[in-house]
Amino acid sequence: MEKLMIGNCPNPIWFVLLLCFLSSLLFVLFDYLALSGGKQNGATFILNHFANDGTSTSSNYSVQSLNNQQTQETVSNTKFVKNLYSCSGRYIYIHDLPSQFNKELLMNCNSLMKWINMCQYLSDLGLGPLVDKNESVILKRGWFVTNQFMLEVIFHNRMMQYQCLTNDSSLASAIYVPFYAGLDVGRYLWGFNVSVRDANSLALVQWLADKPEWKRMWGRDHFLVGGRVAWDFRRQTDDDSDWGSKLMLLPESKNMTLLSIESSNADNDFAIPYPTYFHPSKDRQIISWQKKMRRTKRQYLFSFAGAPRPNLSNSIRSELIDQCHSSPTCNFLGCYNGANKCEDPINVMKAFQSSVFCLQPPGDSFTRRSTFDSIVAGCIPVFFHKDSAYSQYLWHLPKNYTKYSVMIPLNDVKDRKVCVNETLLRVPKNDVLAMREEVIKLIPSIVYGDPRSRLETLEDAFDIAVKGVLERVETARREMEESKLLNKKPSFK
Ligand SMILES: *[C@@H]1O[C@H](CO)[C@@H](O)[C@H](O)[C@H]1NC(C)=O
Ligand SMILES: *[C@@H]1O[C@H](CO)[C@@H](O)[C@H](O)[C@H]1NC(C)=O
Ligand SMILES: *[C@@H]1O[C@H](CO)[C@@H](O)[C@H](O)[C@H]1NC(C)=O
Ligand SMILES: *[C@@H]1O[C@H](CO)[C@@H](O)[C@H](O)[C@H]1NC(C)=O
Ligand SMILES: *[C@@H]1O[C@H](CO)[C@@H](O)[C@H](O)[C@H]1NC(C)=O
Ligand SMILES: *[C@@H]1O[C@H](CO)[C@@H](O)[C@H](O)[C@H]1NC(C)=O
Ligand SMILES: *[C@@H]1O[C@H](CO)[C@@H](O)[C@H](O)[C@H]1NC(C)=O
Ligand SMILES: *[C@@H]1O[C@H](CO)[C@@H](O)[C@H](O)[C@H]1NC(C)=O
Repeated sequence: MEKLMIGNCPNPIWFVLLLCFLSSLLFVLFDYLALSGGKQNGATFILNHFANDGTSTSSNYSVQSLNNQQTQETVSNTKFVKNLYSCSGRYIYIHDLPSQFNKELLMNCNSLMKWINMCQYLSDLGLGPLVDKNESVILKRGWFVTNQFMLEVIFHNRMMQYQCLTNDSSLASAIYVPFYAGLDVGRYLWGFNVSVRDANSLALVQWLADKPEWKRMWGRDHFLVGGRVAWDFRRQTDDDSDWGSKLMLLPESKNMTLLSIESSNADNDFAIPYPTYFHPSKDRQIISWQKKMRRTKRQYLFSFAGAPRPNLSNSIRSELIDQCHSSPTCNFLGCYNGANKCEDPINVMKAFQSSVFCLQPPGDSFTRRSTFDSIVAGCIPVFFHKDSAYSQYLWHLPKNYTKYSVMIPLNDVKDRKVCVNETLLRVPKNDVLAMREEVIKLIPSIVYGDPRSRLETLEDAFDIAVKGVLERVETARREMEESKLLNKKPSFK
């Protein structure tokens, strides 16, 4: 009964299709020669020129000093290019929080998580240990064993490099609160009562609300980053058996913006990409990586890296694993406890680079870090639920999701109405090529650059997130000013 559909995809011409598909693949892998990635002098000059920006509060720069050549070359390769012209409207002030909210957490890194010692992942400003192996599936530089929960540390360190920092909060458009919210609650998710879990959150909002910066916009220009899913900060009751902290349900937090790896449906919650293993420090590393991914030969139709969720009744993972095992065109990377192959960047990149499609079913939550690993590898993500990406990464992924991904409704898999291999085989060759090109173009905008340097012209996931926050705060500011004007009328009577 269980395996009713397995081996029984009702399509008599699958073999022909398969042959067509595989042979066409061999012929269509051509290289794009347009981007040399070699000459970076213009951009480097701009970088040095603008690098002083952070320590000064004057904001206008001459446009003439730009070398358009490089900028244009890069524009053709990606959608997002930095605003190199001016800091006006982009200044950010970093709150200097007491160390209990960030540094102390790192100092006690061996007690951050119940099952893992996180200290190993703190090296290189939160990127984790450098992958120093001569392996053809990665580049010589820019690869790290990055843990998926380190986003808040990486983001903080990237922010220290932001071009438009100011020490004068009155000039700032937005205020960054470098609280390591996920690492903080991560210590207490299992076996601690709610007062322990909430203690630092309560202390934080108290500290913030006492600062002069708070009253300017009642916190609506403040933002923070959580390296865990937003539900971990939205505990609905004060019952000890309920999950997470209530950080984001405190009155002050409701006025702030939270960026996290998976958002809830609250309107001050925004999802930004999980960190991947790739942290480039130069535009040209990204450009040569993109070239490499265009050239890569992909011998499998699809891959799945993950583990089943036997205890989640709605999970389709076991079904997908069965389908993968019985399909010779599928590559399965099992992620089971113990020596976890899935946390080795070489293994993950090998699997995804050798596949045309990468399955991204929900796990414990809707989203997965694997989605971003697959984009980095030029592997077209296959989603089973809109909340795994489409309703989440609004700033970073294209609105028209058919451009870069395939959607197979979860219920169709559950009800065994579809065989994944056949659905994917039916995608026309030209669509596959167009989608892959779109995925490869997304790479710069979903990776976090190495915080020890700065990409010259390309915008990374950090830049796009900051832009999103600044626009949001600007809208809030306009709204507040408008309502102030409106409210004034009655007070003049
Ligand atoms: C597709 O998957 C089914 C099992 O789900 C398998 O029986 C069939 O042989 C596969 N077809 C191809 C073309 O791989
Ligand atoms: C802010 O002040 C600190 C300490 O005085 C200094 O190290 C830093 O460079 C200043 N940053 C900016 C953006 O002015
Ligand atoms: C920058 O300078 C240009 C030309 O001098 C001027 O038009 C523009 O308003 C200035 N922008 C800012 C933000 O000061
Ligand atoms: C890296 O591997 C390639 C072949 O895989 C080899 O030609 C090259 O010499 C190696 N480089 C180093 C530094 O080991
Ligand atoms: C919560 O747990 C801490 C220690 O883990 C304990 O000191 C405290 O009394 C507990 N609070 C409540 C309300 O149970
Ligand atoms: C949140 O903002 C509103 C105005 O938008 C303000 O009235 C309220 O007091 C703020 N809440 C806190 C806790 O500051
Ligand atoms: C599933 O639940 C059983 C019983 O509650 C438990 O023993 C087992 O560890 C769980 N398995 C997983 C993978 O969580
Ligand atoms: C979305 O993208 C697909 C593929 O590129 C295209 O055919 C379709 O017209 C687009 N839809 C919209 C609404 O732009």
